[in-house]
Parts: sequence; structure tokens; C-alpha cells
Amino acid sequence: MDRPLKDKAVLVAGGSSGIGAATALAAAEAGAQVTIASRRVPDGALAGFAHIPLDVTDEDGVAAALAQAGPFDHVAFTVGHVARQAVRGSRVAQVRDGFDLKFWGAYRIAAHARIVEGGSLTLVSGAYAVRPAKGHVLAACANIAVEGLAKSLALEFAPTRVNCVSPGLVDTPLWSGMDDARKRAMFEQAANALPAGHVGTGADIAAIILLCMTNPMLTGSVLLADGGHVLV
Ligand SMILES: NC(=O)c1ccc[n+]([C@@H]2O[C@H](COP(=O)([O-])OP(=O)(O)OC[C@H]3O[C@@H](n4cnc5c(N)ncnc54)[C@H](OP(=O)(O)O)[C@@H]3O)[C@@H](O)[C@H]2O)c1
Repeated sequence: MDRPLKDKAVLVAGGSSGIGAATALAAAEAGAQVTIASRRVPDGALAGFAHIPLDVTDEDGVAAALAQAGPFDHVAFTVGHVARQAVRGSRVAQVRDGFDLKFWGAYRIAAHARIVEGGSLTLVSGAYAVRPAKGHVLAACANIAVEGLAKSLALEFAPTRVNCVSPGLVDTPLWSGMDDARKRAMFEQAANALPAGHVGTGADIAAIILLCMTNPMLTGSVLLADGGHVLV
């Protein structure tokens, strides 16, 4: 059987949780040598993975850590959380953190990760880019910016391929701040409303990230995986 990730060096920035953790596990299962970059040391199923302590908002820290790491065949960037915020009456200084984490974080990783020529970089945006929701202006803008970054880097980094995966609602620790009952109700309501009848798992999105790593025809692509949310 063809195992395109076997013995490949894979870096997952944001691999200690959620979509990134599922990506790290799936890549390891596919035979890759996986390194996780995150602030927390990975635990549970990820204990024992190679780890680079990294805060993607710390430009000098990212540059220093990645100068000594790799080169990597494939890099995935799965960091990001952009808080809900109404625009009217807000000040940029109060709201810029989400953009700094998700867009500039992706930019810093792209700027400093050493990627083998012909390898890949995969970023993660989100379906608010194509289906905005009230109160989520900044998430929509950050997602659109990340997608623009991926498409532009597909040209700058060629023949290294650069893609973006855009998830809809995914059941990950990103939602751990929510009360359990409210979270379950939200997922159930979403599953009932989605054409796919299914809220995503980290593994669902990880499978698409691995496709971006391994399929030689994918570059400059945005792969929407939203269970059909954009249609309803
Ligand atoms: N879950 C959803 O419903 C959903 C929907 C659409 C889009 N997305 C997008 O998918 C991506 C992954 O989300 P997720 O649900 O997997 O989130 P998650 O479970 O909260 O995981 C986020 C990861 O980012 C890392 N991280 C956070 N801040 C960091 C920093 N300053 N420096 C380095 N690493 C940092 C975290 O590790 P440490 O805390 O150890 O640093 C963690 O590994 C995000 O871009 C999110 O916006 C998610």
C-alpha cells in the first residue's frame, strides 16, 4: 500500500489540542515523524511526541525555535481563536488579539518554518469566511486573510504546495469554555440543521489536512468542510 507520509517530517503548530492533535495523531498513524509546536506540552495520546515550546504571537521566539527545527516535509498550522465581538463602539486595541494569533501567527510560521522544497504548508481558516454570522466579523476577516495568505504563498513557495482547510463547526476543546449542557445543545441543533447531519470531529478535518499534505494536485486551494452549512 502507498504510504506517502511514511518517514516524512511533519510539524503541527497547534498540535496539542483539537484539529491539530487529530492531525498529529493521523500523520503519526500514517508513518510520519511528527513534531508538535504549542505552548503546552502535549499529553494523553500525544505524550511522547516531539515538542517545540512555541507561542506563535512571539515573533522572535518563533524565528529562534524554527531556525533550529526541521527542515520539515509538511507543516500544518491549526492555531486560532477569534472571539465574538460587535464592531460598533469597539476599539482595535481591544480586538486585535484574535487576528494576531490566527493571521499573523500563520504568517510567522510561514515566514520561519523550513519546509523541504516540494513539501507542503496547510493553514486552517473557517467557514465564517464564506458564511458570515452576526457578531463574528473579526473571525470572518481573519479567515479570509488566512485564505488569501495560503493562495498567495502557493505562488511564492512553489513548488512547495500551500493550501487552506476551512472547517465549519467542529467538536474540539475550542468550545471547552462553554457549559456542557449548552455545548451539547448547540452541537445537536447544528447537526439537525446541517445537510450532512453531522458536526465535525478533529479527525474529520485532520483527514483533509493529510490530503493537502499528500495530494500533488492541491495547491492554492481552499477546502471547505462545513457539513453543508453554507447551503442552508
Ligand atoms: N472548532 C471549531 O468549531 C472550528 C470551526 C472553524 C474553524 N476552526 C479553526 O480551526 C483551528 C483549530 O481549532 P481547534 O478547534 O482545533 O482549537 P483548539 O482545540 O482550541 O486548539 C488550538 C491549538 O492552538 C494552540 N495555541 C493556542 N494559542 C497558541 C499560541 N499563542 N501559540 C501556539 N499555539 C497556540 C493550542 O495549544 P496551546 O494552548 O498548548 O498553545 C492548541 O493546540 C483554529 O484556527 C480555529 O479557528 C475551528
